[in-house]
Amino acid sequence: MIQGVQGNPTVYLNGDWLPLSEAKISVLDRGFIFGDGIYEVVPVYSKRTFRLESHLARLQRSLAAIQIHCSMQLQDWNAIFTELIQRNKGDDQFLYLQVTRGVAKRDHAFPDPAVAPTIFAMSSPFHPPSQELRETGISVVSQPDERWLHCDIKSTALLGNVLARQAAIDRGAAESVLFRDGFLTEGAASNIWIVKDGILHAPIKNHLILEGIRYGLMQEIAESLHIPVQIRRIRQQEIPQADELLLTSATKEVLPIVRIDQRPVGPEGHAGKPGPIYQKIRQAYDRLIQKLRSADQ
Ligand code: PDD
Repeated sequence: MIQGVQGNPTVYLNGDWLPLSEAKISVLDRGFIFGDGIYEVVPVYSKRTFRLESHLARLQRSLAAIQIHCSMQLQDWNAIFTELIQRNKGDDQFLYLQVTRGVAKRDHAFPDPAVAPTIFAMSSPFHPPSQELRETGISVVSQPDERWLHCDIKSTALLGNVLARQAAIDRGAAESVLFRDGFLTEGAASNIWIVKDGILHAPIKNHLILEGIRYGLMQEIAESLHIPVQIRRIRQQEIPQADELLLTSATKEVLPIVRIDQRPVGPEGHAGKPGPIYQKIRQAYDRLIQKLRSADQ
């Protein structure tokens, strides 16, 4: 039994399908030794992946960025995910995929000649945010962004993110919102959005944030709802003046942030409550998921 894991799900490891309890890797795996790997988290609704092509494109970008050469093609990843979903229980799942540089003598430099990457995929039960959470929203805390300068790479080396998330939990909040040099970057494991005067604002996609798959999705949704979007540098001082704050991620979908550093978010009269732009975006997100759930196979 592994703490927090229900049952013994079937996982994929280097070409084999086996129970999680039997999946083993070498202690010399560079993922274990150096955090030298890439990962993805893909949501599944009614046994169908949501935005898989975008996740796989980001996976390929991240692998290329750290020069992990993996012979898997798009159809190979698709085949693994399709089988993973079928082999595991539950209509709603989230899939975790990790590719590391493989197993070799411990040496910071890449193994030469290159070794086969380690490929691991598992499925976990996915419980999309409850109705209550959507209505009450979440609390966050501000934290300095102390991570490295390649946050656009979806690396498994997540110590900065781990410490930031734990700092939030320790202060009774759900997430940390990170600031670098006085500007908003993102959450410990999410993208952050602000709403001001009916406009949705997001930080620029650059090396300081991970381009969430919901980043593009939010832009699409905003466009379909005629909500103007401004992508720009957002100063930390703007946050207390925001009308709304939103958070997006594969597992949190889109959620309203109603308190930051214990102060209610939003204008007087509506402070501390999910705002109207959130409600519209939330409904549009739900419609997309509903469409996926009811799509013909
Ligand atoms: N994290 N920024 C960071 C640092 C993240 O870790 C994530 C997601 C996002 C949002 O990306 P997406 O919309 O593709 O989920 C932004 C996942 C869920 C995780 O690490 O578990």
